[in-house]
Amino acid sequence: MASSDQSYYVTTPIYYVNDAPHIGSAYTTTAGDVLTRWHRQRGESVWYLTGTDEHGEKLLRTARANGVSPQEWTDKLVREAWLPVLETIDAANDDFIRTTEKRHTERVQEFWQNLYDAGEVYKGSYEGLYCVACEEHKLPGDVEDGTGEYAGQLVCKIHHRPVETIREENYFFKLSQYTDKLLAYYEEHPGFVQPATARNEVVSFVKQGLQDLSISRTSFDWGIPIPWDPKHVLYVWIDALLNYVTAVGYGSDEEKFERTWPADVHLVGKDILRFHAVIWPAMLMAAGLPLPRKVFGHGWLLVGGEKMSKTKLTGIAPAQITDHFGSDAYRYYFMRAIPFGQDGSFSWEDLSARYTSELANDYGNLASRVAAMVNRYFDGVLPAAADHGPAEQAITGALAGAVKTADERIGEALDFQGGLNAIFDFIKLVNGYLTEQEPWKVAKDTSEAAQARLATILYTAAESLRAVAVLLNAVMPKSSAALWDSLGAEASLGELAEQPVQDAGRWGQLPAGSVVTKGAVLFPRLEERAEG
Ligand code: MSP
Repeated sequence: MASSDQSYYVTTPIYYVNDAPHIGSAYTTTAGDVLTRWHRQRGESVWYLTGTDEHGEKLLRTARANGVSPQEWTDKLVREAWLPVLETIDAANDDFIRTTEKRHTERVQEFWQNLYDAGEVYKGSYEGLYCVACEEHKLPGDVEDGTGEYAGQLVCKIHHRPVETIREENYFFKLSQYTDKLLAYYEEHPGFVQPATARNEVVSFVKQGLQDLSISRTSFDWGIPIPWDPKHVLYVWIDALLNYVTAVGYGSDEEKFERTWPADVHLVGKDILRFHAVIWPAMLMAAGLPLPRKVFGHGWLLVGGEKMSKTKLTGIAPAQITDHFGSDAYRYYFMRAIPFGQDGSFSWEDLSARYTSELANDYGNLASRVAAMVNRYFDGVLPAAADHGPAEQAITGALAGAVKTADERIGEALDFQGGLNAIFDFIKLVNGYLTEQEPWKVAKDTSEAAQARLATILYTAAESLRAVAVLLNAVMPKSSAALWDSLGAEASLGELAEQPVQDAGRWGQLPAGSVVTKGAVLFPRLEERAEG
């Protein structure tokens, strides 16, 4: 956890803008947004960065194929696709960095000039394989024989596209010198690369011994020129990785840099783990900068068993989902359905089924039933609980457990599914409580004792919902705000975002007398959404 003057700093990879985002590329941003909203709601100072990776051969080829300059292409895609998708998925990032911005390019040049001056970079000649779709130099183990239209050629194992052979005079970073230092670092910091499968993969890769890294290209010019030899442009990855420091004041705003760096979590897909857990820490070691605290490699969204990708045109645009289900359900689905760190398949059937049973029925119905009963039986004014018997104690006990589990799972372990399971188990329990207590039957008895019991049941349910709104705010901010509103909580407790999540289980926060309104249905049935 970050100390009070340090920001809890989370990053997403910066995205290639050769094409528009699909749900695979929005997956990391969604997870980072849930994580950072959770930490903000713990009362921590948070910095959440995302952005775009705009240099490199892939981008240049795409721009040329579309008959525009690379800068025109990136400007258009960022404006029309990459910034809007943040709204589509309701991301609350603090900054958005583009690698064509001066605040980045100038600092990148300084960084590499310093390493060159320090003897970390030398000139040599490179001959090897390269996958333009990955923007990555490939080792023999990373490629396989092509089939079909690519028979007779070597193809990249990720993209199944032919790799190219590069023969060029390049500059090299002395990465091989960092083999032992990195291994010692992984040993001393067992939590540095997560989950365990990712860590094992990285450690065994580095154990084979690292080769020096080619960091420049001369065959095209869409990149940051090397300051000491401008015929060369920097390899896109070693330009891009630096965004994590240039965006938070490295070399320009020392105070902000001190407050923010090192990153607490770099969230990355498993395909780009080595860049973040091997090359990036070595670059930082060479520059004498602190290393990030954690690199978390998540799995892929699959289509037909393969990574959904722009290159293979298997992508689904996030808006195709949010237009129909809304951004809350979108965020919920990806965080609940797929264990973070493993691959998962997206399916419309699974999404619809979960929407209906978990969001509309279990959660949405609970919220509307409770609001309706407080209105029907108490004119919309929340009564005070008359007692706190065993059934209520079971609720408060379960809530305390759910808060603890959710905070540990979401806030620390990045196990979003585990956290949501705990919150939705609690929702199920409150539904079960109402089914057992049958307030609609109790209401028919006008005796004082029965009315007192009715007050207790409805208070217990409403106060449970108060806690649920707080716990779900990081995942589903819109419906949580609607629920907060319907409970009349703002008048007494203030804004939802100000409610400390770790304190959500403290019972009795919603005061009697709160004005409960029926409000809008949190998750309209799918047929109604389609009509509406
Ligand atoms: N530009 C580099 C990252 C540079 S970071 C200094 C890059 N860009 S990317 O657009 O190809 O991918 C960005 C992120 O999206 C990666 O973490 C990648 O794993 C993720 N995803 C792209 N397709 C994905 C799926 N189908 N499923 C889950 N995440 C995927 O790599």
